Amino acid sequence: MQILDEAASLTRWGLTHALPRVGIQAGARRGDLQARLIMSTAGDGGAPEDAELPLELFEEVRSRGPLHKGAFSYVTATHATVKEVLGSPGVHAGVDFGAGGLLGPVQRWADRSTPIGPLTPPSLLAVEPPEHTRYRKLVTRVFSVKAVRGLQERTQDIADQLLDDLAADAGDTVDLVDRYCALLPVTVIAEILGVPHEDRLKVLEFGEGAAPSLDIGLPLGRFRAVERSLRSFERWLDDHIAAVRRNPGDDLLSQLVLAQDDDGVQLDEVELKATAGLVLAAGFETTVNLLGNGIALLQRHPEQLAALREQPDLWSRAVDEVLRYDPPVLLTGRTVVADTVLGGRDVPQGSVVTTLLAAANRDPEVFADPDRFDVTRENADQHVSFSSGRHYCLGAALARMEGEVGLRTIFERYPGLTLAPGARRRTTRILRGYATLPARLSR
Ligand code: HEM
Repeated sequence: MQILDEAASLTRWGLTHALPRVGIQAGARRGDLQARLIMSTAGDGGAPEDAELPLELFEEVRSRGPLHKGAFSYVTATHATVKEVLGSPGVHAGVDFGAGGLLGPVQRWADRSTPIGPLTPPSLLAVEPPEHTRYRKLVTRVFSVKAVRGLQERTQDIADQLLDDLAADAGDTVDLVDRYCALLPVTVIAEILGVPHEDRLKVLEFGEGAAPSLDIGLPLGRFRAVERSLRSFERWLDDHIAAVRRNPGDDLLSQLVLAQDDDGVQLDEVELKATAGLVLAAGFETTVNLLGNGIALLQRHPEQLAALREQPDLWSRAVDEVLRYDPPVLLTGRTVVADTVLGGRDVPQGSVVTTLLAAANRDPEVFADPDRFDVTRENADQHVSFSSGRHYCLGAALARMEGEVGLRTIFERYPGLTLAPGARRRTTRILRGYATLPARLSR
């Protein structure tokens, strides 16, 4: 059994990473636009600290029309078409390059031992109605906007505590990702889900290990490390859910365990693990980037920080502008399940479409002077950094609140904060943020 599982895992790597990797590298050598686009994001070689978004490539995609047929998939960099694709009923979550073709049976065999992950059914991100509607309703029920509003005070306390802890190091160089940007959202989501305080660092470690699971073209060693992290996370979730069942509290996971849909049916064990695991991981893997990107951007634009000091009520708009300008999730993919028209062109069933969220956020049709970072921008909240349509981020209200509390508080407490050399971007392709952000704090 173990040998078969091992063979399935290697086949999965071959189909989802090795083959596309060869194609992408060959395409990049030929100068193919989509291959250059994929290679321009960090990937396994890591990215320099000042890695900028590939704005010229975004522009080139847009110049080829609302929906460009790339070497690997259709691609769109246009705000209107990104929204059209993500809202279309005939376009489903997930990227399925081979399942409909000759490799379909091989792929299905290889998927037999796939660990539970963000892009694997029954994860919300990988299913469609009616399952999607059922899961989403159950989670929304225990994750209401009202509940999020009630969390603001606690989020403020957590931010204050983390910044108090940093006071002892004032004058020294500290890594803000490690000591603040990661700990704030993981502490908040851990409390929401009833995860014991002492398990936070373990959960952060699983998240960090599993983050590249969203990427394609991983080298074998990295793919194996990702699957190991996903399996450890699953084992930890088993134990945590069992503990919650024995001793339910008033946290969201306890409510999710007991929640029933309209027909009185509860989530089964796998559905529960996939849903709780996604909410937990999505709850910090992206918000850490919002905080890190925001601190770096505001440091690089002191006049914008000065505007926020003058007019603190601009903070919520500033958070949306950070999300628009330097989004934590660069893109997402979809598969067309019935022949359809997108961006004014016929797109056959089975096609994959890549929606470049980061590029749509720079569409001059929607955002005036889109490459200017401007915390007073009135329509900043029209960004698509939380996606759009059925899979619109369930945690958007929470992320915005954490972003506002987290960014405002650090700059209020340490107005003399300056970045130190040595910042490094994360090596993930789809998630974009800082791996380390060294800074010196002073009041
Ligand atoms: C700045 C922070 C965040 C960003 C940029 C972000 C971004 C996204 C994006 C782009 C998607 C949709 C992906 C797609 O369409 O394929 C998504 C979905 C999701 N997000 Fe977030 N997210 C953030 C924070 C959070 C938080 C704090 C939570 C915790 C509750 C969360 C939970 C989810 C869930 C459960 C989904 C799946 C929704 C569905 O498929 O119906 N996210 N997020």
